[in-house]
Amino acid sequence: MATGDTQKVKGLTGPSLVEEIGRYFKGDLIVKEDMSLHTTLRIGGPADIFAIPKDVLSLKYLLMYLSEKGIPVTIIGGGSNILISDHGIDGVVISSQSLTRVEIIERADTFSRLFVESGTPLQSLLNISKQEGLSGLEGLVGIPGSLGGAVKGNAGSFGIEIGDVIESIAVMDLKGNISITEKEEAKFGYRSSGIPEGFVLSVIIRLKRDDPQEVSKRMSIHLEEKRERQPISLWSAGCVFKNPEGVSAGRLIDEAGCKGMRRGDIEVNEKHANFFINKGRGNASDFIALMDEVKARVFTSFGIELEPEIRILGKGC
Ligand code: EPU
Repeated sequence: MATGDTQKVKGLTGPSLVEEIGRYFKGDLIVKEDMSLHTTLRIGGPADIFAIPKDVLSLKYLLMYLSEKGIPVTIIGGGSNILISDHGIDGVVISSQSLTRVEIIERADTFSRLFVESGTPLQSLLNISKQEGLSGLEGLVGIPGSLGGAVKGNAGSFGIEIGDVIESIAVMDLKGNISITEKEEAKFGYRSSGIPEGFVLSVIIRLKRDDPQEVSKRMSIHLEEKRERQPISLWSAGCVFKNPEGVSAGRLIDEAGCKGMRRGDIEVNEKHANFFINKGRGNASDFIALMDEVKARVFTSFGIELEPEIRILGKGC
């Protein structure tokens, strides 16, 4: 079912885009949806249309339609590692949030294999691995966001990365064609992957069989450590900058004297300096200005150029 008005999107004449797409599309289509509702930073202006496909066929239809019409497409997962412009995003933003099927497809003596759809919240997957006594994801406890986003950016923590447990990834390209990428071709690196452009549909992961209590214990220890070191309950996008080779960006930002620096309602966190917090009414332009200021200070102090870890999206960015 399509929701929202039937307002026209720039460049489209005739029946509205929502009406046209809605004929073959199962899920939600929302006109002028505020992206701040879909990011952990609570920042971001409106998308012309925000689409939440309910199934893969609807997604395929939508992508084919948009590519044929030349309408821009932006794909988001859990919105936990992105900064979206205050002016919003042109075209259609597609969210994976309704694609959340998880199935254990093989139970062997020493491991299990799982099929996981991309919109599955990473922490739901960790809960399943805890209940089933499956080890390999413990270090990722407390990381927000969806599996698809985590895989694309090879999310990691406490020495493990999601890429470590992936066997293969199914991706739908922007024309609606599906391909399977095996782990070796996915080129997982530090907070990066070479997964083909498009919408990550699902992954096959392989986890080791273990005692559920041991898995749970390790997760609790990591979560406690994370709570001590990171402001995990505040509005943020996680670490803003990548760690330069061999050194923590957080430590550099801290030692350059940036903790507590503020632009509008965006603040460099006192607990971990690589987290910038939205204190309430923060916006993207202040966030970017603070990034620039912090970058400049770190460069002046250490001669090191920090690179963003977060993805910056939308008009004028
Ligand atoms: N440190 C400071 N001041 C700070 C922050 C850190 O002095 O404000 C020092 C710490 O005391 C420690 C060292 O820097 O000695 C490293 O800090 P930490 O263990 O917190 O790790 P990190 O390198 O800053 C990385 C990841 C985190 C991940 C943690 C834990 C990046 C950019 N960050 O942080 O990932 O959770 O390790 O494994 O790779 C993320 O990617 O969003 C993220 C939060």
